[in-house]
Amino acid sequence: MHGEIAMSLLTMNTSLILGHDRIDTDHQKLFDLIEQLASAMNTGKDKRACVRVCSELLGYTRTHFAMEEALMSHHGYAQAAAHQAEHDKFVARLDGFRQMLDAGSVVLSIEILTFLLDWLRSHILLTDKALVATLPRLADDPAPMQHAFANESSWALGNRVNVKV
Ligand SMILES: [Fe+2]
Ligand SMILES: [Fe+2]
Repeated sequence: MHGEIAMSLLTMNTSLILGHDRIDTDHQKLFDLIEQLASAMNTGKDKRACVRVCSELLGYTRTHFAMEEALMSHHGYAQAAAHQAEHDKFVARLDGFRQMLDAGSVVLSIEILTFLLDWLRSHILLTDKALVATLPRLADDPAPMQHAFANESSWALGNRVNVKV
């Protein structure tokens, strides 16, 4: 089972690249954090480690969603409300998992990891892809990014990776 999770993570680099540097880098980071969750589940069985990584995933997810929503707002994206509703629902689910892990009422499982991976893949391939298709290329459009990050003091791309298309 763990092999299937690892395989699905490895396919991220070739199948889910949307061509928007900032968004793609964030998505890679989110997959990296889910991979860390899988490692915590498989090796340590340490509840505190699982809760810590899950909290980090939740925080980074919120930051990433806020960035996308700032871009949508700046560009007057027509599907912004529906896109944001997907974000809100996922954050609620993820926060629910985190709280249950913390309370000990659930343990991290393949089912939870699979849900996270499937949601992320589906959202990227359908919802984020539709957004990116309407955005100017990042290099041609610095203003929205400055707008998006003007007040983002907590922004940190600790594990920025080079992703090849
Ligand atoms: Fe999104
Ligand atoms: Fe996204």
